Amino acid sequence: MPFAFLALSISILLLFLTAIIHRLYLHPLSHIPGPRLAALTYYYQAYYDIYPHRGQFLFHTAALHARYGPIIRIGPNEIHINDIAFYPDVYPTGPQRRRDKSAEWFWFAGLDEFTGRSAFATLEHGLHRVRRGAFAGFFSRGKVLELQPRIRAKVEVLRESLLRREGTGEVVDLRDACGALTLEVITEYCFGAPISVLDSDDYAKVYNEMLRSSTQIHPIGRAFPMVTRALLRLAESFMEGNEGFDVNKQKQKEVDRLTKAAYDDARRTDKPDEEKWTTAIHEIVADEALPPEEKTLKRIMNDAYVFVGAGMETTGRTLAVTLYHILANPEIHKRLMEELRGVIPSSSAPMPDVSALEKLPFLTAVLTEGIRMSHGTAGRLARVAPGEDLNYHGINIPRGTTMSQSSYLIHTNPVIFPAPLEFHPERFMGDGAAEAHKSLVAFGRGTRMCVGMNLAWAELYLTIAMLLTSVEMELWETTERDATVAMEFFLGTLPSDSNGIRVKIVGRL
Ligand code: HEM
Repeated sequence: MPFAFLALSISILLLFLTAIIHRLYLHPLSHIPGPRLAALTYYYQAYYDIYPHRGQFLFHTAALHARYGPIIRIGPNEIHINDIAFYPDVYPTGPQRRRDKSAEWFWFAGLDEFTGRSAFATLEHGLHRVRRGAFAGFFSRGKVLELQPRIRAKVEVLRESLLRREGTGEVVDLRDACGALTLEVITEYCFGAPISVLDSDDYAKVYNEMLRSSTQIHPIGRAFPMVTRALLRLAESFMEGNEGFDVNKQKQKEVDRLTKAAYDDARRTDKPDEEKWTTAIHEIVADEALPPEEKTLKRIMNDAYVFVGAGMETTGRTLAVTLYHILANPEIHKRLMEELRGVIPSSSAPMPDVSALEKLPFLTAVLTEGIRMSHGTAGRLARVAPGEDLNYHGINIPRGTTMSQSSYLIHTNPVIFPAPLEFHPERFMGDGAAEAHKSLVAFGRGTRMCVGMNLAWAELYLTIAMLLTSVEMELWETTERDATVAMEFFLGTLPSDSNGIRVKIVGRL
């Protein structure tokens, strides 16, 4: 017995030693610089993202790049690059240069309980193309312009609800108000019917908080994929009664209901096509390239959850952060109002449509700078080149390596964006603007680039124009810190101890 125990211990020790030597000296990534501990174990990332730190690995990556250079090894099979000139290689367009998503990063791929069969979470390049192709047209610029009344109607509801608070002294957290708006917009836009939250007194704060924090599961899922997947499958039975879980469940049920109603309508054969509703679900059901097994209600619900998740928090936070910077900078506010008054002389004047607002240069620059500083998806977008070795200035990146860049690091690079932590819309106007635009990667690049960017832009134009020309608001007990991303859980995250981006409604314009 003691001998068997000794033999087992020695074998385990030898296995460990072999793994250490392999990862440090023999691994195909051993020539890429970076901390030794990161090359040995993914728990190096967990130390910064889960415990004792939270959501800090992105910022640590910046320090690692400063020390080791633009390409670093951040995990046994993972590298990170910080170079805008290399974006087209990591995130190419077109079918020739296949890019899969990384199974190490997308730990939830295939898991129905967590959007795992959506286009977003699809690992394989070819299957992703077919899944995304089924709904991409519904988010095209033409479709967004056609359906903009759906957006505008929701902004009007928000405007009226803010105006009802005029002079009451009530404090509104713009993170919640804008989150409620974007939740209603995305559900109205995709399903032709909203999840109604704008009329709730606190703009559905619990919902908002739940969505803001839901991405915090990602570092845990990456560090402990099997356990997290198993727990998510079992969650129903032991999480009942937990407020966050119940709210999430309630939202999921509402998305299920909206998706099912649209799905049933799309499949009705007794209704002429012109009488069917116009929804993203109808597009998917009608798509001819998508095989039948991809058109089950359960599979389509995966895409529906992503539409709601992806469409709400990113755009809501961008609106709130942009409004903060406008209200905190009287010069910018004044210049913007002068431009807006040229096309909206009074709050009773008809609201120009999105294509007219897009022609306003200062508004466009303010929104672009808002997108840059909100860091929607701040963190790394991990890819794998399955059939191609890449070469970064003589450094080989073997096929199969998980590689990524992070928009946060590009958007805060002082060489590309001087004084990067300051709000300067002018950087997107005049000389240098073309360069700045080329380096704006908030919506990602390549075949997996954000499908909802036209919708996001339309929401930004309509909301900022309509609110600023009719509602007079003042910041209340809010500082720049409250509007500054301090953590990263794939999405940029505002400080957890902040009381919000708060305003009081002081008048109507
Ligand atoms: C400011 C707002 C937004 C930002 C910054 C943003 C950013 C991004 C980024 C960077 C990606 C790529 C993710 C990856 O590579 O893994 C992405 C994907 C996606 N976004 Fe957005 N997004 C925004 C708004 C929206 C909206 C309004 C929708 C509405 C439906 C949306 C739907 C999606 C979807 C479905 C994908 C997955 C696309 C695919 O995998 O082919 N996003 N978004």
